[in-house]
Amino acid sequence: MHIQKNKSLKSYNTFGIEAKAKYFCSVGSVEDLEKVLKLKEYPEKIVLGGGSNILITQDIEALVLHIDIKGKQVVAENDDEVLLKVMAGENWHETVLWSLEQNYGGLENMSLIPGNTGTAPIQNIGAYGVELKDSFVSCEAMAVQTQKLEIFSKETCQFGYRDSFFKNEGKGKYIITSVTFKLSKRDHRTNTQYGAIEGELLKKNIQDPTIQQISDAVIAIRQRKLPDPQVLGNSGSFFKNPVVDRATFAQFSSSYPNAPYYKISDDAFKIPAGWLIEQCGYKGKRFGDAGIHKNQALVLVNHGNATGRDILALAERIMAIVSETFGIQISPEVNIMG
Ligand code: EPU
Repeated sequence: MHIQKNKSLKSYNTFGIEAKAKYFCSVGSVEDLEKVLKLKEYPEKIVLGGGSNILITQDIEALVLHIDIKGKQVVAENDDEVLLKVMAGENWHETVLWSLEQNYGGLENMSLIPGNTGTAPIQNIGAYGVELKDSFVSCEAMAVQTQKLEIFSKETCQFGYRDSFFKNEGKGKYIITSVTFKLSKRDHRTNTQYGAIEGELLKKNIQDPTIQQISDAVIAIRQRKLPDPQVLGNSGSFFKNPVVDRATFAQFSSSYPNAPYYKISDDAFKIPAGWLIEQCGYKGKRFGDAGIHKNQALVLVNHGNATGRDILALAERIMAIVSETFGIQISPEVNIMG
């Protein structure tokens, strides 16, 4: 366990933003995590996972813990299902690819989501009709104050749309060390309802897709629509899709009858923020090195040397224009640090 000083975080955040951590430590095991949390000389500690859901707006004065705990283990199985425990520092997409190689079904729709497995439950990652919670069984997390490992069931995680206990009451109090999934070994219950997947499979004339083919379709769609962070810094969807009540929705849809939406319940309608932003004329725009992606207006991008503050200023401008134009508030999905 080695504590580094004045470490650049540029390669630790997918926005590719230059900022420094006063102290930095890569944590490779649960034992090391316990040790580093006990260090009294660094009272303030901040956790970094895959760095794919953060915007760093200034240098960080605290000790940054980079969770790099690796390992995967089948903890139980029968003929139909497997319980797979994955340590927090495993890259999410590699976990998905590995599970597909074993013919374990359940994660295929979430192929190519950036980030690490241990941070996936915090915002209940999801894509193309499937969310992490659908295959989640439990996770282990260390309490920052007591260094005790606690097990969180699906219920205690209180998963919602891009939301969980760890984003609310549990925020800053726990560090997830592993996640356990229940995956199918045969008769996979696939989900290809999502329009874009259906279209992609149809193009290839695939009627009854395997989990591998679904993953390939998702990868193709994502590669078309979403920028590769290795090429163009970004953090996936910067904003959440706003959920509005029936009255607000009725007013909105009478003004914009062609707007896309998803009905969640009789009193909850989700409106794609990407559509709202595009209507405001912001898709593909660039202000210095901070920009809005040309294929998906929900994604803010760093064209090279944008600072976190540049991206934040653009985000605030977009939130204001959407609110003025539609009377609907949108809010960031990414964590803003600093
Ligand atoms: N749309 C536009 N303009 C845009 C973007 C979208 O008009 O610039 C419209 C689309 O035409 C479509 C609707 O908005 O009618 C929805 O678009 P899309 O299917 O691309 O999905 P989304 O709601 O914009 C969400 C997730 C993505 C996820 C996709 C697919 C959130 C915040 N984002 O985006 O997740 O990949 O669905 O399931 O829920 C992420 O969280 O980082 C992420 C990329």
